[in-house]
Amino acid sequence: MTDLGQGLYAPFVRERSTGYPMTAGAVRLARIHTRRQLTMWRWPGDVQDAVLIVSELVTNAVHHGRKVGHELWVRLAVLEDGALLIDVSDPVEAFARFGEDGEPAEGDERGRGLRLVRDVGGEVSWFLRRHCGKTVRVRLASA
Ligand SMILES: Nc1ncnc2c1ncn2[C@@H]1O[C@H](COP(=O)(O)OP(=O)(O)OP(=O)(O)O)[C@@H](O)[C@H]1O
Ligand SMILES: [Mg+2]
Repeated sequence: MTDLGQGLYAPFVRERSTGYPMTAGAVRLARIHTRRQLTMWRWPGDVQDAVLIVSELVTNAVHHGRKVGHELWVRLAVLEDGALLIDVSDPVEAFARFGEDGEPAEGDERGRGLRLVRDVGGEVSWFLRRHCGKTVRVRLASA
């Protein structure tokens, strides 16, 4: 688990949380909602990159964090310094081999999502939630 020294409850100036079913359709919906919300907030960072990150994290929640009878949550929060926190929560209380993502083998079509997130400047961490599951957090600077 990591926390990047920013605290789990960093002060924010704007926030939105939305629940989604654990289905592939959640990815498309979360992308649409994120683009709309960040545009409405006039978030000064790269909205395309933020949408891409949401897409990868929600896809991961559906593929790796799925449990029957549970949903996933996406929280967007803009911090005082303009950075965006993207929190995606799922009910699975583990993240096996977090941070061990080496170079994917040639022809390997998996294991690229979090690498992509980091390549666009996302700082990835995760932490357990108090009552159920975990949150995967990406911090994306606004400039
Ligand atoms: N929400 C999650 N819960 C548990 N494990 C996860 C979660 N997200 C990612 N992981 C683990 O981290 C690994 C790397 O994730 P990453 O998104 O980079 O690759 P992937 O999902 O396997 O493939 P893809 O390239 O299609 O994204 C996953 O294979 C999985 O083992
Ligand atoms: Mg993935």
